[in-house]
Order: sequence, then structure tokens, then C-alpha cells
Amino acid sequence: MKKLTVNVNDKYDILIEKGLLEKAGILTKTVLFGKKITLISDTNVYALYGDVVKEKLEEQGYAVFTYIFEAGESSKTTATVIDMVAFMAENQLTREDGVVALGGGVCGDMAGFAAAIYLRGIKFVQIPTTLLSQVDSSVGGKTAVDLPQGKNLCGAFHQPALVIIDPDVLDSLNAHFFSDGMGEVIKYGCIKSAELFERLANENPKDFIEDLIYQCVDIKRRVVENDEKEHGERALLNFGHTCAHSIEKLWNFETVSHGEAVGIGMVMISRAGEDAGITEKGTTQRIINVLKKNNMKIADTHSNAQIVDAMSADKKRTGSGIKLVMLKKIGESFINPVSMQETAKLFGVD
Ligand SMILES: NC(=O)c1ccc[n+]([C@@H]2O[C@H](COP(=O)([O-])OP(=O)(O)OC[C@H]3O[C@@H](n4cnc5c(N)ncnc54)[C@H](O)[C@@H]3O)[C@@H](O)[C@H]2O)c1
Ligand SMILES: [Zn+2]
Repeated sequence: MKKLTVNVNDKYDILIEKGLLEKAGILTKTVLFGKKITLISDTNVYALYGDVVKEKLEEQGYAVFTYIFEAGESSKTTATVIDMVAFMAENQLTREDGVVALGGGVCGDMAGFAAAIYLRGIKFVQIPTTLLSQVDSSVGGKTAVDLPQGKNLCGAFHQPALVIIDPDVLDSLNAHFFSDGMGEVIKYGCIKSAELFERLANENPKDFIEDLIYQCVDIKRRVVENDEKEHGERALLNFGHTCAHSIEKLWNFETVSHGEAVGIGMVMISRAGEDAGITEKGTTQRIINVLKKNNMKIADTHSNAQIVDAMSADKKRTGSGIKLVMLKKIGESFINPVSMQETAKLFGVD
């Protein structure tokens, strides 16, 4: 079993091993000391893995109360979280009891938020089941729901007590959601690990999935440890994301998924960096090759002008400049704080 410890205020372990779902009960027992657990999952994931996890938790003597919500981002609302919290109150969970989140990022974000606000905070365990949630959302302690005004606007920092990652569950994940996670995986290589990037260029990610997850989580862990509440270095994780957010918005958060948009965003910013003499020549082509190898998009049909326009609309709202994450070369990134005007220039928009 691979193990990483995240050394933030409430430190916690991340365990990675094929077949680990079978040990979900025993492992949970090492961090949740109450009698009751609210097991939160979505309709798809519960149908696949709910019974196993429930059984393993019950074997350890827990009374398990199951909360299942309709799969999909449209469930990620305050209404669902309030319903979860009410469900915990009805079942009289105490401060010693806990939450287990079994699912993708939507499930983890909501269950984590519910655990953060119920009785002003109870413990929760993450069992992420998508590639994106295994390498990204389950680590770092960010929890949130969407508001009609925008995504992830209502949330809290609440670190999990434990993260249990079983790469075997990815076998049932469809190709689309798998490549969505690959957007983040490739990002980690770009910002911090030339070695990981090289492996992605030469190997099939599924052939070294356990190690791949370990390396991605290790990168996120290091960045989060240095910057738990997102004041500085954590911004590096936003490589490719400034353009991606605009692209997602231009498509109304439909059609182009987050991971795909991140892929396109990485190509855009890398190309801008090469044009400005900041990024090593040939970097963009290398990113394009890895994206193509994973059947991902490398460009969007919107023009740079439209994408930069969407960015500036965002910036007008928040009233700040842009912290563009750029590459010196593969594996070496830095934060470049720029004005909107400079950003437009970088992307060749006047
Ligand atoms: N908290 C953070 O730091 C953070 C970071 C990145 C993304 N996020 C959030 O994560 C969310 C996206 O996460 P996601 O892509 O995991 O979405 P998701 O949770 O909706 O999962 C995607 C789909 O895959 C299904 N699924 C999950 N695991 C499966 C499995 N093993 N087999 C078969 N089907 C499975 C789900 O039912 C769902 O239909 C967004 O809401 C985003 O805002 C949060
Ligand atoms: Zn992302």
C-alpha cells in the first residue's frame, strides 16, 4: 500500500492500493471513533460499490445511515447539503460520529461541506471514485456547492480525516470521465514533474495507474502543505485553468468538460509563453502530443479574443489582476501576476 501524509493543521493520510475498498471498514475504524456513520454517495456509484462499503463499515460495528443523491453536478446545491445535514440530525449523529463520502468530486465536495457545517464540523473520510477526485478534489480540504450565481461559491475548508483510494474502481468509469481526470494529471506533470510528463508521453496511464495517482497526489500534497489556505503557491495548481474557466463559461458548462478545457488552456498558455520568450520552445508541441495520445481536445472553436473577453468579464467582477501560471519548461512553473491588458497582449489580442 502506498501512503502519503498531508501535514496541514489537521494532518491526515492518503492511502492508495488496488482493491483497497475491501479494507474500507478497518481503515475507517482508525480515524472515526463514534458509533454512527452517514455514508454519502450518488446513484451511479452506490449501485456499483455502495453495498461493499456499507458491509465493510457494518462489519466494524458502525450503524450506517445511507444518503444517496442523484448523480451529476446539478445536484451540487445548498438544498442537497441542507438535506444531508437534516438527515444526520434526524439520525442523531453526534460530534464523535462521522461521514464517509463514496463517489466523485461532486460527492466529496458536498459530503465534505455537510461534515464541515453539521454541529460546526464532524470528521469525514473520502473514498474518491473518479480519476479527477482521486488525483485532485479529495486532497486539499476544499469543500463547496454551486450557487445560481456560479460554481463552488459556497463552501468551507475542511480537511478529511483519511482518504482511501482504490484505483480498481476506475475500471467502471467511462472513457470521457477518465480523460477529464487526465487533464489534471497532465497538468501536474507540466507544473512540477518532467519525469511524470515523460512517462505520460511514453506509456499508457492505465499501465501505471497506482504510481500515477501517487505522484499526482504527492505533488498536490506538497503544494497544499506549503499553502493550506491558498494565498500563494497553491495557485500553481491553476495552470491552464484561467483559459479553461473562460472556455467552460463560453460553453455554458456544457459540451466541453473541465478536464478538456484544462487541456486546451494548457496549450494556449504554453503557446503564449513560447511566443513571449518565457517558455522553452517546443513545450506546446509536447503538451499537444500527450493530450492527443489521451484523445483529448487541443483547441477550442472560440477565438482568443472571445476567451480573453470572458476572462476580463470575470476580473471585472472580482476586481483583481490575473495570476497567470506559466511554464519555464515542462516541470517548472511560476506565477506571473499580470494586468488584463498584458494578458490580452500575451494571447495576441489587442
Ligand atoms: N474540492 C476541490 O478541490 C475540487 C477540485 C476539482 C474539482 N472539484 C469538483 O469536482 C466535481 C467534479 O468531479 P467528478 O468529475 O469526479 O464528477 P462526479 O462526481 O459527478 O463524477 C462523474 C460521473 O462519474 C460517475 N462515477 C463516479 N465514480 C464512478 C466509477 N468508479 N464508476 C462509474 N461511474 C462513476 C458519477 O456518478 C458521475 O456521473 C466538480 O463539482 C468540481 O467543482 C473539486
Ligand atoms: Zn481543475
